[in-house]
Amino acid sequence: MSTPVISATGLFTPEDSISNAELVESFNRHVERFNADNAEAIAAGTVQPLAPSSVEFIEKASGIKARHVLSKAPILDPEIMCPRLPERPDEELSVLAEIAVKAAQQALAAAGRDAKDVDAVLCACSNLQRAYPAIAIEVQAALGIEGFAFDMNVACSSATFGIQTAADFIRAGHAKSVLVVNPEVCSGHLNWRDRDSHFIFGDVATAILVEAQEIAPETHWEILGTRLLTQFSNNIRNNFGFLNRAAPDGIGQPDKLFRQEGRKVFREVVPMVSTLISGHMADLGLSADDLRRLWLHQANAGMNRLIAERVLGHEASAEESPTVLDTYANTSSAGSIIAFHLNSADLKAGEIGLICSFGAGYSAGSVFLRKAG
Ligand code: COA
Repeated sequence: MSTPVISATGLFTPEDSISNAELVESFNRHVERFNADNAEAIAAGTVQPLAPSSVEFIEKASGIKARHVLSKAPILDPEIMCPRLPERPDEELSVLAEIAVKAAQQALAAAGRDAKDVDAVLCACSNLQRAYPAIAIEVQAALGIEGFAFDMNVACSSATFGIQTAADFIRAGHAKSVLVVNPEVCSGHLNWRDRDSHFIFGDVATAILVEAQEIAPETHWEILGTRLLTQFSNNIRNNFGFLNRAAPDGIGQPDKLFRQEGRKVFREVVPMVSTLISGHMADLGLSADDLRRLWLHQANAGMNRLIAERVLGHEASAEESPTVLDTYANTSSAGSIIAFHLNSADLKAGEIGLICSFGAGYSAGSVFLRKAG
């Protein structure tokens, strides 16, 4: 049976970024307009006035300072407040496939892998832009990969679920090289008019090349173990679908965009994830002292602080539990992979780290890695 490893990762970052100051300025112009347009009804008590957002709140509550996006100007235009990514003809690469391919090309180049030698592509992400054909198959065709491909969605946990699926294919002998891509155009599912959540998400794509150890490049990451967990909750939910569509900007249909009970999520997911990690770590015969780094899902700095502290038994340093929230915000399934991609090169052979993602479902996944080479 082959041992699965991560051979390389890739990251595509959109050029444009929105700072908290830019975001709040645009949001508050929307608030002023709404309150002015509805002044009479507000005075009569039949309409509730909107409250302004604040840069200080956003940074303190989440640790987010900016987010990369594919379509900046329309998001900041108070008349629009959502991305405008024109629909493309069927013959053109779709936007999700395009950013996935960019991240994938980086991972393939880093591993020195020819696309022809990849056996399968999994597109594991939260926000698939269409029903079919699968984005993964489009990526497969664009890269010239033979074999098979499919999409999978486990919200913010999609990447770790993708890694376990790829690792199982390798253990079972169905593939030797599996490309997992996580394109996330989160700006499309975010309600930019909702004060409670308008600051949370950003756009990005990551790629992970999971391979049999015998074909991997000399420097790689041995997958010591993976563990997945799900538990139903309505506290993070998006009702968009074929049976219940929405206008692209979601006005009047906020349940067709991302919404959450943020406090409940915080309270319920922290213990769920810390218990998952600690149990998995013990079952692998590891202790907190063996862990050099945690690459946690990037949703909220406070959640990560608590989870890391519960797992390590002490407050984690920025080196032990790096964050990319400040510049990327929450990028759903891609967050923990960005943290890994940007903060793993300094580990020495033999050192151990953990990728962990969590989110809607609820869902959570842990992947323990040991550097080799
Ligand atoms: N600007 C200024 N004030 C705001 C605001 C904004 N944009 N949004 C909310 N507030 C106010 C609220 O009105 C409230 O005021 P009050 O105390 O007078 O009632 C106060 O700030 C606290 O709001 P609350 O929603 O309770 O904030 P919070 O401290 O719980 O932080 C989250 C909100 C969403 C950042 C936090 O709950 C969280 O991160 N939860 C986990 C989210 C998560 O990881 N989700 C996974 C998604 S994949």
